[in-house]
Amino acid sequence: MSLLTRRRLLRRAAASATAAGVARAGLAGAVAAGIAASSTGLAGCDDAPDTAPGGAPDGPLRFPPDFGWGAATSAYQIEGAAKEDGRGESVWDTFSHTPGRTRNGDTGDVAADHYHRYAEDLDLMRDLGLRSYRFSISWPRVQADGSGKPNQRGLDFYRRLVDGLHERGIAPMATLFHWDLPQALQDTGGWENRDTAERFAEYADVMFRALGDRVPVWLTINEPKTVVQNGYIWGHHAPGQQDPGAAYLVAHHLQLAHGLAVRALRASGAGGRIGPALNLHPCYPADDTAEAATATRLYDGYENRLYLDSILKGAYPEDVLADLGPDSRMVRAVRDGDLAVISSPVDLLAVQYYTPIYVTGQGDTVRKWPTSEADWQQIYPEGMYDILTRVTRDYGRIPLTVTENGLPCPDRLAADGTVDDAGRIEFLRDHFTAAHRAIRDGVPLESYHVWSLLDNFEWAEGYEQRWGLVYVDYPTQRRVLKRSAHWYRTVIRDNGL
Ligand code: FCB
Repeated sequence: MSLLTRRRLLRRAAASATAAGVARAGLAGAVAAGIAASSTGLAGCDDAPDTAPGGAPDGPLRFPPDFGWGAATSAYQIEGAAKEDGRGESVWDTFSHTPGRTRNGDTGDVAADHYHRYAEDLDLMRDLGLRSYRFSISWPRVQADGSGKPNQRGLDFYRRLVDGLHERGIAPMATLFHWDLPQALQDTGGWENRDTAERFAEYADVMFRALGDRVPVWLTINEPKTVVQNGYIWGHHAPGQQDPGAAYLVAHHLQLAHGLAVRALRASGAGGRIGPALNLHPCYPADDTAEAATATRLYDGYENRLYLDSILKGAYPEDVLADLGPDSRMVRAVRDGDLAVISSPVDLLAVQYYTPIYVTGQGDTVRKWPTSEADWQQIYPEGMYDILTRVTRDYGRIPLTVTENGLPCPDRLAADGTVDDAGRIEFLRDHFTAAHRAIRDGVPLESYHVWSLLDNFEWAEGYEQRWGLVYVDYPTQRRVLKRSAHWYRTVIRDNGL
């Protein structure tokens, strides 16, 4: 690993340590927290939209017919029922129950109680007019210890959910892994152990055989990069390690797991489509020096090309491999044939966009735009256009879906029973508009899932940040449509803005 990378990673680890246990820093966040950030402070949520909901400054923007307007969630963040019906423990149970790891010691034990309230939540989705719903399957609900005979009660829950979606005319999109690794597999090395990738493929096969006839789109691994960075470099996500060497070994095994699952779907004979779900960050030089351009290129390698190139081009990017160095645990772990597995043809690419990254000549990051309540998120809708068009330009016309994009707001339930999240409406309008422009310029974008359907357990931030279209009053578990949800219903009805 080069000096630059080592310095950068250590700085990141140090920065995250200052925010220990509570920071939900995404890529740039922990670094930015340690520098004199040029942030102009919290933004996005207090700004009133500049036009009435449903309107648009420049006339109507219509999306392609059958555009898949959707919303997304993940199992650990909403389900609760942590000990019910044979569910095993996940690394997030362990992590959230470890003192000091999450804000206020919050856990996903109850979350939004979706496991019990899924029928009500399905009705909400129908009332919003959703055409697509992206959820994740809890691996330890299906295989308590991460391998072996599946737990029928776990499978039954997802069958009921998927059937309920079909009954309401909503297309299911199932993510196989959204970070809740069975703790039993963590105990044998987790993603540092190559065997975990094989276990993942077996679990995926269980799901394809159970629901392959009724799930049209599967996503393999949610944001492998977040596991790598937050879980293994900064340590503020499960499993809470600060070990850059292990981190990139984990990256390779996550990529391998992805490829093995793609092959398992084909082998199962199930008809659905499959692809990865990658959080992509457009990277820009912080200034116009040659040094910033060079540092940005490498940064982009770690943020985007490490995942995109291996899956879509069958090779890890040379600059990243060179930077890691031949002695890195990752480089030594890559075996003949692995890249062929990782690049098994996929049917679509799921893009998750939240924030851009600006890189200095020293390889540090700076903020250029106002941040949201999540200090790692700079609000920059153009980044959506840039990342979608870039993927199409560099990787060809693979069908794209946006599987996450959204904003946390300090939402309050008013005395009249409403939640006025005007800033979220403005955020979504601007990002929808950027996506529309990308489609107009030739990007094959077929659907868009707002993060999130419901307020939920936001990992190390616990329940403090509210990302939902639907407000969850946790003490009563009552659901209240926020103003953005009413607005989104209009967008879906009109198929545009
Ligand atoms: C993404 C995660 C999702 C949620 C949003 C805010 O990185 O995939 O679970 O935490 O960020």
